[in-house]
Amino acid sequence: MSRLEKNKFINYKKIDENIATVRKRLGRPLALSEKIVYGHLDDAANQDIVRGESYLKLRPDRVVCQDATAQMAILQFMSAGMPEVAVPSSVHCDHLIQAKVNGIEDLKVAKDVNGEVYDFLQTACAKYGLGFWKPGSGIIHQIVIENYAFPGALIIGTDSHTPNAGGLGAVAVGVGGADAVDVMAGIPWELKCPKTIGIKLTGKLQGWASPKDVILEVAGILTVKGGTGAIVEYFGPGVDGISATGMGTICNMGAEIGATTSMFPYTESMDRYLRATSRAAIADASRAFSHHLTPDEGHQYDQVIEIDLSKLEPRINGPFTPDLMTPISKMKETAIKNNWPEKMSVGLIGSCTNSSYEDMTRAASLARQALDAGLKAKSGFTITPGSEQVRATTERDGLLETFREAGGVVLANACGPCIGQWDRSDVEKGTPNTIVTSYNRNFTGRNDGNPATHAFVASPEIVTAMVFGGSLHFNPLTDSLDTPSGKPFKFTPPAGKELPSKGFDLGEDTYQAPPALEARSTVNVKVSPTSNRLQLLEPFAKWSGKDYTNAAVLIKTKGKCTTDHISMAGPWLKFRGHLDNISNNMLIGAINAENGEANKVRNQLTNKWDAVPATARYYKAQGLPWVVIGDENYGEGSSREHAALEVRHLGGVAVLVKSFARIHETNLKKQGVLPLTFANPADYELIRPDDRIDIVGLESNFKPGQQLTIRLNRKDGSKPVEFKVNHTFNENQIEWFKAGSALNKMSQ
Ligand code: F3S
Repeated sequence: MSRLEKNKFINYKKIDENIATVRKRLGRPLALSEKIVYGHLDDAANQDIVRGESYLKLRPDRVVCQDATAQMAILQFMSAGMPEVAVPSSVHCDHLIQAKVNGIEDLKVAKDVNGEVYDFLQTACAKYGLGFWKPGSGIIHQIVIENYAFPGALIIGTDSHTPNAGGLGAVAVGVGGADAVDVMAGIPWELKCPKTIGIKLTGKLQGWASPKDVILEVAGILTVKGGTGAIVEYFGPGVDGISATGMGTICNMGAEIGATTSMFPYTESMDRYLRATSRAAIADASRAFSHHLTPDEGHQYDQVIEIDLSKLEPRINGPFTPDLMTPISKMKETAIKNNWPEKMSVGLIGSCTNSSYEDMTRAASLARQALDAGLKAKSGFTITPGSEQVRATTERDGLLETFREAGGVVLANACGPCIGQWDRSDVEKGTPNTIVTSYNRNFTGRNDGNPATHAFVASPEIVTAMVFGGSLHFNPLTDSLDTPSGKPFKFTPPAGKELPSKGFDLGEDTYQAPPALEARSTVNVKVSPTSNRLQLLEPFAKWSGKDYTNAAVLIKTKGKCTTDHISMAGPWLKFRGHLDNISNNMLIGAINAENGEANKVRNQLTNKWDAVPATARYYKAQGLPWVVIGDENYGEGSSREHAALEVRHLGGVAVLVKSFARIHETNLKKQGVLPLTFANPADYELIRPDDRIDIVGLESNFKPGQQLTIRLNRKDGSKPVEFKVNHTFNENQIEWFKAGSALNKMSQ
């Protein structure tokens, strides 16, 4: 499966058998993504399969986690008491490195600042059999495409841009930590059966146009929501002219249109990339399997879009949203019309999206032209290699030196400014300014935390050329620049190489393989009991077997209550590995129906107003269970498992709402909390803040499809009120509840 894991093998046979079973059952030809997804079904013979409706139970080949999300995922996995992960898994230290001076200096600082997190991840990986990629090794998605992805793989990753591996023909999906934990613990992964969007590529990219422009165009067409619930499949004669890494760029940014993932059919460029990255055996195996790595003749997509690559002009998308697409020839007039800051303060190239050898050679070819004409960068200029392999190879081949000569700063092989890890000193916070990046996301404040920064997204070629113009109005395809010699300079289109002719240089060895199983018992997972950022998890207590009685209403929320309201991000991110500390943000954004305010509830025991987490802690200390009451679509937003863990940790037993966002509902079940919905939504109005709640029927009749009863015991002594509530637990999930959590059940 990977050159780093000698005893793990690709199971094309299982995919083949599953495809045959499903094709026969459905009686129709299949799209490529269907073949790969259904090829990984846990039970192909009996799985319900309706696109856009059924929930598939799948067996992914691999789990990958970045360091910010890995912390809680691994802590949870540890609490299940299993000896090792059930599927090949790895952790990548890329998100916690802040860009300030340059790659070397910044990496040193990061190792110091995040030392305890790295130590924890490193020792936990060794103990439980995960591969560990040290800080400086590179960005998760680049490392995955270099080492782990293969045509026909099903990969889940705790990061939205996991789909990058679609460039190598994998179905690779970004998930929350809870899903990663399940798969690492051997529980099948649930995915709503995706719809399919086909994007037919014809023609061939010419001159300045690059794979990035394909996805910028797609984002413009489909918008940030257009891919929701679907896998985007590229097909048509145009795919053959694109490199594997170029296809990776296109799939990576498919996250910007909300797609489940994006992917390409098998191409010769995949074969070339596999061989160039020392995976000849996998190249041979996938070639032999390539009949399954293209869609079946006559299959139907849910939607089809066509793009002629020959006519594609470079685009710049933004600011503030990746789907605001402007062809470069229209940028000047559009920028003037919208009053976007003209001066380009910084151009940033690289990242997980765009730092392939091809990208770097094309960008460097432009920098070289400008340097030869006597020009230097007019804007700030940063280069982020996606991996140590990319860094070492581009350093060896003189590309990084070309960028430095132009005034560029090579940052660490890490996310850096792409995820806001950018200690920027050239512009005061609040000052409007323009930056152009070859990254993928450009939401307000994403890169530098400055809401006034206008971030635009373009190809690395366009960013590099624009750095020499220093202006958002500069169109390198048509405009000339003044040079010291007085002779005007105009760029000629970039030229690059798909793969390094001298082969890749692996650079410094930054990978730690898990020790053999026997050696793992001596590994001590390092978590300091006094740590602020990390805390070992105790398994949650199992259900007592009795109905819950006399539970307090912690908060009756009103209106929108997303996972951000339940567990805020921002400054709280640093506590992601410390459940008790991060629980201090529980529900602080939710609006209390009683007073219309956030983070202010009446403590029913003391009768004093207090913060929500403080009140929950008080009830917990007094042994008083509590519930949350909510409105429609409670828990929408991200798949953040902290939103469920915190409720459980602080003593919540149930969340009763008009309706749930499904992922949050499942996350609550996994943590042993009861997600319940009003059988009659109007009963929401019956609940008073000082009611005490009994949940009746758990003891006598907790079964799938069987309603439970809520009894409201009134403080004023009036007659209790009863009504019915629904739940969606299946048999298996009821076992999770009884055991105290899904992980407790697994460890039993
Ligand atoms: Fe990192 Fe940015 Fe990619 S945050 S994983 S470089 S999208």
